[in-house]
Amino acid sequence: KNCMKEVRLGIAGLGTVAQGVLDILAKNGPLIAQRTGVVLRVARVASRSPKPEVDLLGGQFSQRLEDLLGEDVDVVLELIGGEDRALDLIERALDGGKAVVTANKAVIAQTGNELLTRNHDVRLKYEAAVAGAIPIIQAIQCALVSNEFHKVVGIINGTCNYILTAMQERGQAFADALADAQALGYAEADPTFDVEGIDAAHKLTILAALAFDTPFQFDQVFVEGISAITAKDIEYADELGYRIKHVGIAQAREGEVEARVHPALIPKQELLANVNDVANAVVVRSDAAHQTLYSGPGAGGSATASAVLGDVLALATRTSAAALPADAAGRSGAEQRYLDISEVHCSHYLRIPVRDQSGVFAQVAKTLSEHEISIEAALQKEPSEGNEAVDIVILTHEVREDIMDRAVRTLVMQLEASDVALGDVSRIRVEALA
Ligand code: HSE
Repeated sequence: KNCMKEVRLGIAGLGTVAQGVLDILAKNGPLIAQRTGVVLRVARVASRSPKPEVDLLGGQFSQRLEDLLGEDVDVVLELIGGEDRALDLIERALDGGKAVVTANKAVIAQTGNELLTRNHDVRLKYEAAVAGAIPIIQAIQCALVSNEFHKVVGIINGTCNYILTAMQERGQAFADALADAQALGYAEADPTFDVEGIDAAHKLTILAALAFDTPFQFDQVFVEGISAITAKDIEYADELGYRIKHVGIAQAREGEVEARVHPALIPKQELLANVNDVANAVVVRSDAAHQTLYSGPGAGGSATASAVLGDVLALATRTSAAALPADAAGRSGAEQRYLDISEVHCSHYLRIPVRDQSGVFAQVAKTLSEHEISIEAALQKEPSEGNEAVDIVILTHEVREDIMDRAVRTLVMQLEASDVALGDVSRIRVEALA
C-alpha cells in the first residue's frame, strides 16, 4: 500500500517482555500493517547481555542504551525494568523528542508526575505497567472517561495470585509455588516486590491516580503482602464461603480516597474470587457504566508485550487513546491525602489460636463486644486427639481499623494473662465488593 507508514523501534532490554515483542512482530507484523497501515520495524535493540539465540528481526544490537537515542529510532520501548537506568533512558528519549512506551510500574508510580508534567503531551504511554495484557488504563482513560468512579478493585500481581491459587487448589507450599512463578517468568527480579505487595502498590498507585484524578501518590498507599497467609487461613476462609486473594483497592468514601493493597477474603461467588493462577482482573464501579470487569494474564512475556505493542500502535496511529493528552482523564487534580489505614472501615477475619479451655470463646466474644465489634460468623473445630490447641475463627461486621487494632491488642493481653494464647492472631480484611 502506498499509504504505509514506517515506525522505527528502539527496544531496551532483551528479557521476557522484549522477547515477547519480537515474537509478536515476527508472527503478526503483516497483520498489524494490514490493519493499521503501520509497519513496525525493529531498528535497534540494546541490552547488557547479548542473546545470540534471539532473532532481532534485523535490529542492530548494542550494549549501550544511548544507542537507542539516535536519529534512526522513533519510539523507544523501555523494557529493562529497574529504576535509575530506566528513568534516565525515558527522560532522555522524551527530551530528544521521541515517543516512549514503558512497562515500568515502579518508574511511573514513583516519578510519573514529573515525567508526564514535563512532557505534558501524548508521547509517554504505560498500559503494560498495570495488569499485563488487560487494557485497564485505556478503559479508565478512554472508554469510561465520562464516568465518575466509585471503586477499583483488582488482582494486580500475577505472582501472588499464582501462589495463593497453588496453595488453595494444589496444597502447594508457599516457597514451592513462588519458585514455580519465578521459573515461569512472572516474578519481579526481586520477588519480595511481589510477595510483599510493592509491585501491586505501584500498579494501584497508577489506577488510583487515574480513577480519582490525583497525582501518583505511591507513598500514601497502604501495603501488605501475602507472606503471613497460611494454608489454614485459606481452608477456614473456604469453609466460610470465601477465597483469599491479594488485591489492590482504590475507592472514594465520603469525599475521601482510600488506596490499599493487602490480602482479602472475597465471597466465592464473585467472579473476582475465581480469577486464578497468573491471571489478573480489575473490577471498576462507576456511576454510568455501573460495574465492569476486565480479566486476563497479568504477567508473562507475550501478554505484557501485547499491551506494549497496543501503546506503540496507539502512538503511531494517533487514534482514540493517543489523541487524549496524558492528563485529560485522571491524574489532573491536586494532591489529595489518601485516608490513613487506621481510618478505613472493613470487616475482618480473625483466627485466634488458643488452648481448648472453658471460657475462652466467651472471653473473645466479650472483648469484641466491649469494643462494639459485632460478630457476623464464628467457627471452632474440635481439637485433634491429644492436642489442646484450637483455632477460634471469627468474621466481624465492618469496623474502623484503629478500633480493631485496640480490640486485638486487648484480647492478646487477656489471653496471654490467662495462659491460653497459643500463637499469633491472624487478621485478614474482607472485601465484599457489593
Ligand atoms: N511480577 C509481576 C506480577 C509482573 O507477578 O504480576 C507483572 O507486572
